[in-house]
Amino acid sequence: MADLGLSPCYFVIFGATGNLVSIKLLPSLYHLEEADKLHPDLLFIAYARRDWTGQQWSEHALEALKSALGEQYKAEIAERLVARFEYLKGDLHDAEGYQKLKEEIAKPRMGACENIVFYLAIKPADFSSVIKHLDGVGFNKKSGRHRIVVEKPFGVDLDSAQQLNRQLHRYFDEDQVYRIDHYLGKETVQNLLVFRFANTLIEPLWNRNYIDHVQITVAEDLNIGSRAGYFDTAGTLRDMLQNHLMQLLTLVAMEPPATMEADALRDEKVKVLRSIRPIPPRAVNNYAFRAQYTAGSCHGKAVPNYLDEPGVAPHSTTETFVAAKFYIDNWRWKGVPFYLRTGKALAEKTSMIAIRFKHPPQQLFRETPIEHIDPNWILLSIQPEEGMHMELHAKQPGLGMDTRIVRLDAMYRDKDEIALDAYANLLLDVIKGDKSLFIRFDEVEYAWQVVEPILRHWTQETEFIHAYPAGSWGPNSAERLFDSEDQAWRNKI
Ligand code: BG6
Repeated sequence: MADLGLSPCYFVIFGATGNLVSIKLLPSLYHLEEADKLHPDLLFIAYARRDWTGQQWSEHALEALKSALGEQYKAEIAERLVARFEYLKGDLHDAEGYQKLKEEIAKPRMGACENIVFYLAIKPADFSSVIKHLDGVGFNKKSGRHRIVVEKPFGVDLDSAQQLNRQLHRYFDEDQVYRIDHYLGKETVQNLLVFRFANTLIEPLWNRNYIDHVQITVAEDLNIGSRAGYFDTAGTLRDMLQNHLMQLLTLVAMEPPATMEADALRDEKVKVLRSIRPIPPRAVNNYAFRAQYTAGSCHGKAVPNYLDEPGVAPHSTTETFVAAKFYIDNWRWKGVPFYLRTGKALAEKTSMIAIRFKHPPQQLFRETPIEHIDPNWILLSIQPEEGMHMELHAKQPGLGMDTRIVRLDAMYRDKDEIALDAYANLLLDVIKGDKSLFIRFDEVEYAWQVVEPILRHWTQETEFIHAYPAGSWGPNSAERLFDSEDQAWRNKI
């Protein structure tokens, strides 16, 4: 597709006053503005229900930018970005708002502009209403170079995802649909492929002969704050594990694709998802664990009990922490557990993939004081630190035979190399019309299939949920998923 970023464009954001826009989209657009990546005729329409004037929206957007960017905030850039916005008051379920949107876009500002992005920064439950109404005013597959960006979670389970997809395809062609998972925009995530497939050193070890198990952790130090409207009906399994963590798992586990083309990569990722051993409905508790935070403190700041967060249902059993175990039944991975874990209000914000190798044979050291040799680890840290660490054994200097762990640390980025945030990368791709880092529907579908038994089980079990104090690393009982006693969560790089 030609680079659409070189032509005038309308970028409509539904749900513009929501949390996602304030904490992710606006700061990323700011960075694109700062890096001079936005076409002079790229205009944004912020569509939301609040009865605001354009001035009120601008003040809100500037405030959001200030608080998200902290010291990076430069008033001149923020004002330049905000000047690209129109605010449009409209309801997601009311045809009138869409009519006004159509009139706004038809204004002779940039001539007849058919290059339009519709970004759905809204609850999954509202997607289908927006799609229908867009079609109602003639924005659909027949009407121009429109793109529709759909946030995750795509659907709330397998059934609803399939329905939503059918509906999208009724009004839009597949090449107009951008299913976003912002983890794919993170450079350290893309670096996983290079790390695995550009290093002869790594690939021969990357299998069940050498690897004992894999841990994927995405820990967040924030509580849900004002997001209960969405979060309390979604929960961490849908919000994080079905998408971000599953994507990480597929990238760690997939076979080398034939080319770097988007579809070659997706084919390999889908093969991994299809090879995951189905969780038996009666044994869900052996494979998955959920918990909810109680009052505590993160970095010295008091965090309320989840049930006391504004908007959370009084007896909610929505999980804010999930740990799960998966087996990939193929030649490379048979018997190697993949432990995934993610949660809110934990001790630190950190995302990492920890690969633990098998124990080396001990016979050589039998006659020495070395009683036990710890296994090697490779740690891939995704955020906030971006790097790779390898833990190896070396002899302790001095007389006698004793070992210690030495670490090889390789940082992915030099201090003066600036990173674009994941959303900035992906927003730019949407603007340009490049789909390679977006999710194909079968990836979504198989990922739902993998977690479906867990979802069903938890939906029925509404009486009890484990607890952990905010600011901790989650409940100790999550350790019960481990296959062997010498396995334990690795919290630190
Ligand atoms: C979003 C989830 O997709 O990812 C949020 O909806 C979560 O709940 C966020 O906080 C985490 O993203 P990151 O890039 O900060 O790890």
